[in-house]
Amino acid sequence: MEKQHHILSITLVLFVLCNELLITEGNDKIIDNVAYFQGSSSKSQVSGSKGKVITYNSNDGSRDFTAFYNGTFVTEKDGVYLLVLGAQIGGPRRNGKGQVDIWMRQDGANVPDSNGIQSVDHGSTSVFVYSVAFQASANYKFEVVYSGHADEECTRLGLIATQPEKEPLVPSAIFTIIQLSHGTNTIPYAVLFSSKTHLDSSDPEVIVLDGVIAANKIDTITDDESGAIKYSKAGVYFLLANTEVGSAEGTHASGEIHLWMRRNGKDIPNSNSIQTIRNGSAAIVISQVAIKLEANDKIQMMFSTTNKKLGAIVSTPKKEPRVLSILFSTFQLLHEEKPIPYAQLSSSETQWGCITPKTVKLDNNDGLECIKNDNGILEFEESGTYFMMAAAQCGSDKEDGIGDVHLWMKLNGKDIANSNTIQTVNKDTSVLVSQVAIVIKAGDKIEMAFSTDVTNGTVGLVASKPHKESAVPSIIISVFKSSYVKHS
Ligand SMILES: *[C@@H]1O[C@H](CO)[C@@H](O)[C@H](O)[C@H]1NC(C)=O
Ligand SMILES: *[C@@H]1O[C@H](CO)[C@@H](O)[C@H](O)[C@H]1NC(C)=O
Ligand SMILES: *[C@@H]1O[C@H](CO)[C@@H](O)[C@H](O)[C@H]1NC(C)=O
Repeated sequence: MEKQHHILSITLVLFVLCNELLITEGNDKIIDNVAYFQGSSSKSQVSGSKGKVITYNSNDGSRDFTAFYNGTFVTEKDGVYLLVLGAQIGGPRRNGKGQVDIWMRQDGANVPDSNGIQSVDHGSTSVFVYSVAFQASANYKFEVVYSGHADEECTRLGLIATQPEKEPLVPSAIFTIIQLSHGTNTIPYAVLFSSKTHLDSSDPEVIVLDGVIAANKIDTITDDESGAIKYSKAGVYFLLANTEVGSAEGTHASGEIHLWMRRNGKDIPNSNSIQTIRNGSAAIVISQVAIKLEANDKIQMMFSTTNKKLGAIVSTPKKEPRVLSILFSTFQLLHEEKPIPYAQLSSSETQWGCITPKTVKLDNNDGLECIKNDNGILEFEESGTYFMMAAAQCGSDKEDGIGDVHLWMKLNGKDIANSNTIQTVNKDTSVLVSQVAIVIKAGDKIEMAFSTDVTNGTVGLVASKPHKESAVPSIIISVFKSSYVKHS
């Protein structure tokens, strides 16, 4: 009798458990049709030094997302979103010198701490990447704003569109917005920052994140000064850091700054990138990685410099929000039984360019699932809405070349319209970013194409191997499919 009772209760417990599982499974839906927006502008946007909203005039793909032509964006669904803006900054006819600032506005008010700065030199153009993950309610409204500050009178700076021959258009701005989850705190995600200037680092040093904008199941460790970000749940994550690099105020220093990531105290292979600073110039450097993490893994943002007066810089421009030294966004990709398609790829070979476009080669698979990489041609096994970001290390042979690097995307062998970007190389090195949110069908193929327009020497994508640091690939590519579980 005693025993029977026991068995009965076990059966009951099992029955209840099964029922629970069925109920959860019955109401859980995997949503592949995430909201997204991919848009660009074929018009140059050049105004004065007052903040002006960045607009677009071409909708290159969207779903469940409102984007007004005046530059106001409105979410239709709640959730965590990723925003990446690539702004092609420079002067009309490339005759200006100075800086462009970019920040966010909500309901007409500047968002605190949202500002970034990138310098423009005579004869040059570059992509200013503005990126952040954010939690939105349905009907969350925002705008991205820029201001141009030319050093000399009678010149202006802003966002410049150009149409190279036999290549896709280089828009003045490329907006990429993609939904990552629904509701609030349904996925592990965090937006962290540093409000301190970090200088002087000939040896690798950690950029300690001292501020939290949002954090769910991801924390910063402050007690032991390790400056690590701790992930409490295992899974595939996307990590994206915007670092504002430059020189200490008033020093006009020159040199190089290196930025990479560490996992559990060890350099993440092929995660390093380099930015040259000249005479006090400033730039945003993007470090991104899609990576499989275990529970309790720790990530650190690392940097080193060739000059004691260089580093990650905080500043407060007049009448604009503060510029943080680093803004770090991270989130988990869908975590179900079935693996989420993602890829982290890079190249350890230098690839010199020519006026005739070439396919960018990718010889390193740093991590991938459900995506094949045939030396730069990515083949997708699963349909869905994907985010892809390429960061190319543009430079020259013997560091004395001068010219432009163009970088864009191809889908099934055809150029993707409005995907082109330009980075000028002038005896220096910087990172050129091109990004897209795109609907992919199983069997589709994507590749990156590049060309160079050279004034002197040899220009292209340059790989290197610094001492005591992660390798600097000639290009780093991160791809993931966005989809989420809806519990109702
Ligand atoms: C843009 O247009 C929308 C819809 O008419 C409006 O709600 C919004 O305030 C406008 N934004 C700006 C910056 O004027
Ligand atoms: C460096 O920048 C300062 C201030 O912008 C300028 O006055 C100076 O001429 C620059 N020096 C060089 C070598 O370009
Ligand atoms: C052009 O490149 C050559 C070699 O690549 C170099 O020796 C020369 O100094 C460069 N000229 C200029 C004007 O930069």
